[in-house]
Amino acid sequence: MIAYPKTAALMARGAEFLGTEHAMLCGAMSWVSERNLVAAISNAGGFGVIACGAMTPELLDAEITATAALTAKPFGVNLITMHPRLLDLVAVCARHKVSHVVLAGGIPPKGAVEAIKAFGAKVLVFAPTLALAKKLFRSGADALVIEGSEAGGHIGPVSTSVLAQEFLPALAADHIVFVAGGIGRGEMIASYLEMGASGVQLGTRFACASESIAHPAFKTAFFRANARDAVASVQIDPRLPVIPVRALRNKGSEEFIAKQIEVARRLDEGVVDMAAAQLEIEHFWAGALRRAVIDGDIESGSLMAGQSVGMVTREEPVATIMGELMTECEAALTRG
Ligand SMILES: Cc1cc2nc3c(=O)[nH]c(=O)nc-3n(C[C@H](O)[C@H](O)[C@H](O)COP(=O)(O)O)c2cc1C
Repeated sequence: MIAYPKTAALMARGAEFLGTEHAMLCGAMSWVSERNLVAAISNAGGFGVIACGAMTPELLDAEITATAALTAKPFGVNLITMHPRLLDLVAVCARHKVSHVVLAGGIPPKGAVEAIKAFGAKVLVFAPTLALAKKLFRSGADALVIEGSEAGGHIGPVSTSVLAQEFLPALAADHIVFVAGGIGRGEMIASYLEMGASGVQLGTRFACASESIAHPAFKTAFFRANARDAVASVQIDPRLPVIPVRALRNKGSEEFIAKQIEVARRLDEGVVDMAAAQLEIEHFWAGALRRAVIDGDIESGSLMAGQSVGMVTREEPVATIMGELMTECEAALTRG
């Protein structure tokens, strides 16, 4: 008997594509999405994704080996497109016969999609506009993740609800599209599935699962936070670009604003040139996510979190969280 028949019917395409029971990905979260969380997600019937982040090929190699030792189920690898050794990382995935590679952080450079498909893996991409999504599908992408500004981590300017309305009617009939950003409950999953999504991707909701290695202080910060605490980073000066990141407000985020003001002043005074000024801003958060997730420095570290953080109230096993989401989704579809 299928436990969630209505949900399973709407997730069928996505689940087949991922090779999972549920078409539910846990989006890669740097430092958080390592072997333990990834394997737990896949073992619970979802799709775990290793966050490669800034790892070297050697580290990624070890992480894939360790993850495969913890689960016999499919899982993916998330690679950041601007990683200087992207093609070496792809080669590591090829050696391990990774089934799905997610390319994040920008438009895939020439040859990346081809190199992944050459060893038989499926390629998932992100696209900020519909035109670009269509182009990526034409160039061989197998699936798309649309991620709205409610999400934790690096974000675009448009909300998930608007992206879903723009992308799903245009693409969902012919393509696999997963929706991410701001999903905290199963009712939301139901509504995106009804709009044609093949499945969903969540991050924030799984970041503090029992199996997550995130520091207890990081988890406590999540349990205490409300939606309004998960704010996008602010750019103070048009000359000094800031990549928008959604994270919990803390001392670090206040200091970042002060830092931008101070660097802009030194730029005005001619004490630093533009390149040096921009680099100072860029480097402000270097290592900050690791400090928060691994060391538990919740004051100056980066507490990347989505707006759904208010719905994360206690530590629970991945299987419990996923079961709750599936039950809520099924109930919503049954009522519907
Ligand atoms: C702590 C944290 C770290 C993240 N790191 C990455 C990353 O390295 N690569 C990536 O593609 N997305 C990253 N994300 C985004 C997630 O993969 C996922 O798409 C997002 O969390 C979904 O939105 P939600 O947080 O509202 O559920 C991160 C998110 C969080 C909360």
